[in-house]
Amino acid sequence: MRILITAGPTREPIDPVRYLSNRSSGKMGYALAKQAIALGHEVTLISGPVSIEPPEGIEIIRVETADKMFDAVKAKINDGDMAIFCAAVSDYRVADIADEKIKKDSNTLTLTLIKNPDILGSARKDFGFSGTLVGFAAETENIDTNAREKLERKDCDFIVANDVSRSDIGFDRDANEVVIYSKDGSATRLELASKDEISRQIIERIS
Ligand code: PMT
Repeated sequence: MRILITAGPTREPIDPVRYLSNRSSGKMGYALAKQAIALGHEVTLISGPVSIEPPEGIEIIRVETADKMFDAVKAKINDGDMAIFCAAVSDYRVADIADEKIKKDSNTLTLTLIKNPDILGSARKDFGFSGTLVGFAAETENIDTNAREKLERKDCDFIVANDVSRSDIGFDRDANEVVIYSKDGSATRLELASKDEISRQIIERIS
């Protein structure tokens, strides 16, 4: 199977030296890529800026912003049979990126943010992807309700939900605990384990 995976954060520039981003380390997405290769699949990894070495044997496309990730996914998604969206895409970007470093001579600074494209939400209706579509849901509350709502709204086959309010799993941790929600209404919990082990189980169950 050919699998496209998105991983890591995106960075949205404010000026030449500053950006908006989030705490994603890329560990979960890179673990998915590593396990997919180990299970005999072909992998294209579209990665935001992280400090992890990619596993050998994959195609890697590095991007910085949500817009660039959108373009890379659009160009590649229909080459694959499955797409797994693990990236923590910045939901907003700065409306007017300053050409020069912004001076700190006032006590407050107001930035206008505009919404970034929903890459996962574009997979079916804009990119015409008909393979197996897997999203992630990073939640801090009402996990079950929010994950099921994302499954429906983004037209996914599966949503992998994790509780990012916990300090032992999720962002920048080596372990995770997830629930896989399926379009058929079922929910399967994968108990606390390393991101490698959780990834192996996700790929095995979904493929
Ligand atoms: O990278 P790590 O430090 O290992 O952390 C792993 C993780 C916590 C980032 C990962 O397990 C995870 O939860 N990834 C999804 C993060 C996220 O942005 O979730 P969300 O609930 O905001 O988004 C829902 C889905 O839509 C995700 O599949 C996301 O990739 C996708 N999305 C969101 C916004 C957007 N503009 N485009 C998207 O494609």
